[in-house]
Amino acid sequence: MKTIIEPFKIKSVEPIYFNTKEERKEILEKAHYNPFRIHADDVLIDLLTDSGTSAMSSNQWAGIMQGDESYAGSPSFFHFEQSVKEVTGFPIVIPTHQGRAAEKILFSILGGKGKYFVSNTLFDTTRANIEFSGAEGIDCLCEEGKHPTVPAAFKGNMDIEALRRVIKEKGAANIPMVIMTVTNNSGGGQPVSMQNIKEASAICKENNIPFFIDACRFAENSYFIKLREEGYANKSVTEIAAELFSYADGCTMSAKKDSFANIGGFLAMHDLDLAIRCRNLLIITEGFTTYGGLAGRDLEAIAIGLKEVMDEHYLQYRIRSIEYLTNKLIAAGVPVMQPAGGHAVYIDAKEFLLHIPVEQYPGQALVCALYEEGGIRSVEIGSLMFGKYDEAGKLIPAQMELVRLAIPRRVYTQSHIDYVAEVIIEVFAKRSTLKGLEIIEETPLLRHFTAKLKPL
Ligand code: F0G
Repeated sequence: MKTIIEPFKIKSVEPIYFNTKEERKEILEKAHYNPFRIHADDVLIDLLTDSGTSAMSSNQWAGIMQGDESYAGSPSFFHFEQSVKEVTGFPIVIPTHQGRAAEKILFSILGGKGKYFVSNTLFDTTRANIEFSGAEGIDCLCEEGKHPTVPAAFKGNMDIEALRRVIKEKGAANIPMVIMTVTNNSGGGQPVSMQNIKEASAICKENNIPFFIDACRFAENSYFIKLREEGYANKSVTEIAAELFSYADGCTMSAKKDSFANIGGFLAMHDLDLAIRCRNLLIITEGFTTYGGLAGRDLEAIAIGLKEVMDEHYLQYRIRSIEYLTNKLIAAGVPVMQPAGGHAVYIDAKEFLLHIPVEQYPGQALVCALYEEGGIRSVEIGSLMFGKYDEAGKLIPAQMELVRLAIPRRVYTQSHIDYVAEVIIEVFAKRSTLKGLEIIEETPLLRHFTAKLKPL
């Protein structure tokens, strides 16, 4: 087989700013060892997120010029609405300025004290919006998904037995919604199988619980189904995605991922009563129902990107490029989540830094080391992001200590990725010299964004 090439040419470029290791040491100290606090032009290769960081296509840019900025009834909204309907099959489409705005609206209506939302794994903003409403989030990830280095085809799956158990324990009436995150971002960008979606959906129907998809990376998940699940090899990704959405009552979406948009999101659903309640909140917090906090030009970019993302040459290149970096690291003995996920490479920081206990945030120590060594910005998905305290103030650690290197869509070339691998392997060689960190300032919710830390 020949090399899988980037299925695009580059029309416009942005400079990368170079700095030295000495400068980065100082930058890191000033940022209190939290790369969210670093200025982006002090970063060489920015793998903090794949969200809103995509390179848009010439078609999307052309759409941006055609965006209509009418407050109400903009043709750009109807283009957007049509595109979402075609891809998801949901008849009601509500634009929001990004995914968490959709979540905030949904959980403000459905959440509250005594309610439980069940998921394969809730993303951090999703969990935070649920908790902010007073409700609780419960993750039922399948067993395979909890072991970073054990390969399996669908490690994002929900544990179906656990779902049944939670429904029985908490009572269906106290579970306003079950949410399937595709792909499972916090669990390693791992896909969910169609079979699993079907089973979870059936249980929800039996129990009269609405079943929603957190659809941020629906195209990547659909492509994994095509590659790995029996019976799907000859189906198009468009067909697979349509089937995936057909089992759900609705979805939340961040168009900043699998729509190549720099901003945007939506809620889509069947239930008109719920939609009316969502639209009432939308008007208070986001904007009128035909723009939901977005400019007409953003709606155009999403309408086009949502279709473009299902191009199978693109998806083949996308999934292959994540696998390429993953395999390079595996070959060098670096402990990474296996198999490769859809949008990011996840390093198992607990394994990487065996000498740093979880209370000293090994993931964050590695994030800092990658920045210092090579100017690479990554993010900790471990106890800094998800850790809680017990009554005695002792850390209740996260299930895993991962470092995520999220690859922006269509942005970096193979040599950028080769450089990333070289830096990680260099840090791996001197891992025993790395030190843990302690938190010196934090907020009660989503502390990882703003926390200040210091090396021990
Ligand atoms: N759900 C999932 C699975 C996500 O990955 C994200 C965002 C959201 C919801 C929220 O969407 O950012 O548009 O408000 N994930 C980004 C990330 C931030 O870096 O993984 P948003």
